[in-house]
Amino acid sequence: MNHIEHLIKSLFIMASMVEARDPYTGGHLWRVSQYSRILAEYGGLPANIVARIALGGFLHDLGKISVPDAILNKAGKLTDEEYAVIKTHTEVGSRLLSDHPLADLARFAVIQHHETPDGLGYPQGLTNEQISADGSIVGICDAFDAMTSTRPYRKGMPVENALTIIQVNLGKQFHQEWGEKFIKLGEAGFLNHIVGHSETGIPLQQCPICGPTIVVSKHHQHGDHVFCRACGSEALVKKVGSNLAIEATGRHGAPSDLEPEVDNDLLAHLAQESSKHITINATHSKSFWH
Ligand SMILES: [Fe+2]
Repeated sequence: MNHIEHLIKSLFIMASMVEARDPYTGGHLWRVSQYSRILAEYGGLPANIVARIALGGFLHDLGKISVPDAILNKAGKLTDEEYAVIKTHTEVGSRLLSDHPLADLARFAVIQHHETPDGLGYPQGLTNEQISADGSIVGICDAFDAMTSTRPYRKGMPVENALTIIQVNLGKQFHQEWGEKFIKLGEAGFLNHIVGHSETGIPLQQCPICGPTIVVSKHHQHGDHVFCRACGSEALVKKVGSNLAIEATGRHGAPSDLEPEVDNDLLAHLAQESSKHITINATHSKSFWH
């Protein structure tokens, strides 16, 4: 592993630490990163920008580390004060990241993914082309994943419904052209292998209480036990051929069973893929892009 790959891996690990706090979002960062990469590629951006945007997709919510769980996971409507706290996460993320040697790669995605073309977004209320491709793309993909993912208090909506909402809000909440491209990808079925998955080929499994929140990795074997980190339910992994399924046991996991797991193989793979397209320009300490 070379120097740049180590640095990129450190970014992926930082992001996965933030995700480990939230038991409901299994695979959210991976999915946003994958959607963002596919959309950037489809839009014809060069490979180094595609890699940067995919990385930004994984890092976009870093600043949520500073938002209290009671606000982050609140089931009901947020008060104005609580929403104001949530809205700090873009600038906090950018600031926490700012001295990392590769901060420039993720900065636009982190700070601009809640900016909207109509100027009603945050933190700066930028409009249209003031928002970078990174911010526009990651913003669309983040919203799509939020809409299609199940939370304990609401079921994820079907892909078609989420695409309709993007369509209705083109040029308002979502960048017109990037939104149109995303809709085309969605309608063609090119996103279906990511929706509801936590990794390539690994769909989230259904917890009988919380919905599709149980992460099963490709390392799990037939007969292993897995746990819903949201409610603590235990389930048994069943592997029939290449198909994975789980069956509730009716038992609850101990605290040690509910600890977050980091998929180091996945992070290593993502870092390796990104590093193929990222080079350091030693003469420009803060600008690594050629
Ligand atoms: Fe966010």
